[in-house]
Amino acid sequence: MADERDDIRSRIDIVELVGREIHLTQQGKNWKGLCPFHQDKNPSFTVSRQSGRYKCWSCGEAGDIFTWVMKRQNVDFAEAIRMLAKEAGVALTQRGPQVPPSVKEAQEAAMAEALSFFKEHLAKSKIAEEYCERRGLDKETLTTWEIGYAPEVAGALAVHLKKKGFTLSDCKTLFLVDEDPHGGYFDKFKGRLMFPIRDEKGALVAFGGRLLGDGVPKYINSSDTPLYRKSKVLYGMNRARTFFTKERRAVLVEGYLDVIACHRAGVNIALASLGTALSEDHAKLLKRWVEEVVILYDSDAAGQKAADRAVGILGAEGLRVRVALMPAGEDPDTLLRNAGPAAVQQAVETGLSPLDYKMQALELKREQLAGEAFWNTAVTMLAEAPNEMELDRHLLRLAGQYPGFSDVNRAQQALRREVNKIRRRNNDKNPERQAPVRGIEARQLRGELTSGELVVFRAFLSEEYRGIGWMISQARDLFASSLAVRISDAIRAAFSEGAPVGEPSQWLHRFHEEEMRQIMSDVLNDQRGDHLTEKYISDTVELLKQQQDRRLLKQNRKGNLDTAKRQEYLLKLRESKPDTLKKQQNEDSLFG
Ligand code: UTP
Ligand code: MN
Repeated sequence: MADERDDIRSRIDIVELVGREIHLTQQGKNWKGLCPFHQDKNPSFTVSRQSGRYKCWSCGEAGDIFTWVMKRQNVDFAEAIRMLAKEAGVALTQRGPQVPPSVKEAQEAAMAEALSFFKEHLAKSKIAEEYCERRGLDKETLTTWEIGYAPEVAGALAVHLKKKGFTLSDCKTLFLVDEDPHGGYFDKFKGRLMFPIRDEKGALVAFGGRLLGDGVPKYINSSDTPLYRKSKVLYGMNRARTFFTKERRAVLVEGYLDVIACHRAGVNIALASLGTALSEDHAKLLKRWVEEVVILYDSDAAGQKAADRAVGILGAEGLRVRVALMPAGEDPDTLLRNAGPAAVQQAVETGLSPLDYKMQALELKREQLAGEAFWNTAVTMLAEAPNEMELDRHLLRLAGQYPGFSDVNRAQQALRREVNKIRRRNNDKNPERQAPVRGIEARQLRGELTSGELVVFRAFLSEEYRGIGWMISQARDLFASSLAVRISDAIRAAFSEGAPVGEPSQWLHRFHEEEMRQIMSDVLNDQRGDHLTEKYISDTVELLKQQQDRRLLKQNRKGNLDTAKRQEYLLKLRESKPDTLKKQQNEDSLFG
């Protein structure tokens, strides 16, 4: 494998490969251009033929031809190798057990044959055409989504496939036909509108078929076959993926026609899991392409329950989740037809955080609930708040309504006590469970960050000193603890343009990692720090610089620093010590 990779590397010119996507100009030995991984204004992206690597000096993205293809085409490593090997004309030796190509090719050919059979029959069937018309599926949509029709005749496809030379027992494993007790074959799909299902690479792997009228089952979907794992394929992925590079989010809907409706409404990032609940593998697949998923399920009880489940599964993969509410009784397909494309787009934009969504649903049910039941449920939901900011927002909102208190502050405190009680109970019940609220607790944060580092990030989160905090955060080397370095990296990645404006709640989502958002909200909630002033912050920076110099000195004590340099550092260290910080120096274990 390593040899093959070298072969590929030697045959593919990285300058040419990258140059297909961005304009590069030569500068000395290297090539330079605008970085495609962040909003670059001055060319900070360099490509070196010599090293076979690219690097952005501003955002830090770097890699070789393989990572380039992985990042730009959203494929995994193995796929990137396959794509580049093909281009370079390098034959890859197969590793591990593989279906011999002849078998797989025959399977793919049978699927393709079935698809053209279904498409042909849609054109021939009056009732199917009428049905499409009734449902507002125009010619263009039928073509784009390759929709077909499986005729009502019992063995039409079986006869057709046999005539074309396919072995029906093989077609059985593909969920196209089935065997009757007498050894004959009949079609799996009869009298159904057919939706071909393609995987993310565009390979035809399965079908879904909908009855033209009422009846059960409304849909039949291919079960798992040698070509298809339903827990790993999302309907619409092959079309949506091209849009994910630009818009790093997806919209998750319930059915075939909902996906199609969304795309028609301009929401071309819509997907659905089909005939199966959303799985962990689906979430992993999504995670490869997007950072955020908007769940747009029906607003009925079943839809809400499915949404709750999806929230958990997507959240566990580290995806940011929003839940959008469909107007009652509508799905994206009916909404498009009843209210037009803008209504579908609008529905997507109403996406709420999972907690806001739950609280809103609770408010809608409020009239049916006794006061006590409402407050019990509310407090239980709030105990699951992902961060203190969201919790505080709700506590503040609800405090004015909390019965038995004339003072809002008291009410808020009382509510918080209730929330904390439940959190403690939850933790006792399940000590394994990482209380979502805590994440890295402020106290622990203090253990992981030096107090100087904490000051920098507190400044970044403050309204007044954000600009300074942002600037200091750019100096990665200033930080001693690995957590601070990570935070500094995250700030630089998320805010390469400059410090964000407005409340943290408006921009925290720009940190891609959930953990980082949590850490930030913990810093924000760390009330024990001294009052920030400009002097205090600049003294802190001085201190951090001194600590940095000491680290350098220590690192180089073994001799790689020449004496003159060492003297210079020592001199610098003897310079004035800012008095506001004496206390901190004693606290910092990383110091010296
Ligand atoms: P719905 O019952 O909401 O149907 O099922 P729909 O998508 O709105 O379809 P129309 O508008 O009535 O034609 C949502 C999805 O659940 C799966 C299908 O993937 C469907 O698109 N489903 C539903 C099945 O797999 N089998 C069924 O019997 C019903
Ligand atoms: Mn529908």
